[in-house]
Amino acid sequence: MSGTRNPNGIAVVTGAAGGMGQPVAVRFAAQGRPLLLCDLDADRLEQVAGPLRVVGGDVRILPGDIADPAFPDQLVAALDGEPIAALVHTAGLSPTLADGPRIFDVNFTATRRLVDAVRPRMASGGCAVLISSMSAYMAARPEIDAAIRDLIDGDGAAIAPMITEPRGAYPISKRAVIALVAREAAAFGAKGARIASIAPGLIDTGMGRSEMAASEQTKVMLARTPLGRTGIGDEIASVAVFLCSNDASYITGCDIKVDGGTLAALGF
Ligand SMILES: NC(=O)c1ccc[n+]([C@@H]2O[C@H](COP(=O)([O-])OP(=O)(O)OC[C@H]3O[C@@H](n4cnc5c(N)ncnc54)[C@H](O)[C@@H]3O)[C@@H](O)[C@H]2O)c1
Repeated sequence: MSGTRNPNGIAVVTGAAGGMGQPVAVRFAAQGRPLLLCDLDADRLEQVAGPLRVVGGDVRILPGDIADPAFPDQLVAALDGEPIAALVHTAGLSPTLADGPRIFDVNFTATRRLVDAVRPRMASGGCAVLISSMSAYMAARPEIDAAIRDLIDGDGAAIAPMITEPRGAYPISKRAVIALVAREAAAFGAKGARIASIAPGLIDTGMGRSEMAASEQTKVMLARTPLGRTGIGDEIASVAVFLCSNDASYITGCDIKVDGGTLAALGF
């Protein structure tokens, strides 16, 4: 029997001021976990942290750009020696928000650095949850997967021409996140820890609304979605918090689709 006790340690949430990160922070706070909340937007971060402190939580904040190579060291310093029981890494950029290289840098390169920084600090029984995207499944091409393998195991030179445009960079960055999770499972397992990702479908957050306003393709996907609606941030948060619980103690190295059935309807 796995039981539901959480491992001791801090819960780290990146993108904590965002549409998925904020409900993750609220759910972790309700479990009484100490929190370290990170986001680029310091004002909105404080707006999320303030109410959680009022109800008695130990809530630290770390404003900053996760793509700054100095960020992982800042995060480790903010832990103050505490192990990480849970990481939910939601900070990311979608095609309407930046150019291709910046999207790739934030969504994959910074994510890999973050994973490298947290791995040695994971508590036994802890879990890291990354966020991929259903778009990753739509970038299933042999040349892309070869470039991602080269990126993860080699020098990564083949990826550069594929990520110049935002609409190319985004799904490839998220496919690389899924590959990273598969690759990292053994090293996390050696620490008694787990790592998984969630592939959200169309989710009604600031980012999701921005993409749906800009792309006809998202409207077609919504029309085909079996549940007939967009998801909300808390429907991703609930799965992330489940993955970080002992109820998910045999889940690692994989990507979980939380998309209202969109990918299935589209044949992926
Ligand atoms: N909303 C969707 O429909 C959808 C679908 C698939 C995947 N996703 C993924 O889900 C994750 C969360 O997205 P969301 O919908 O909550 O978006 P959001 O825009 O509401 O939240 C993202 C948060 O990340 C922060 N952020 C962005 N760049 C950062 C950086 N460089 N450093 C630190 N913080 C940074 C933003 O300030 C924001 O608060 C993203 O990785 C996104 O790619 C979203």
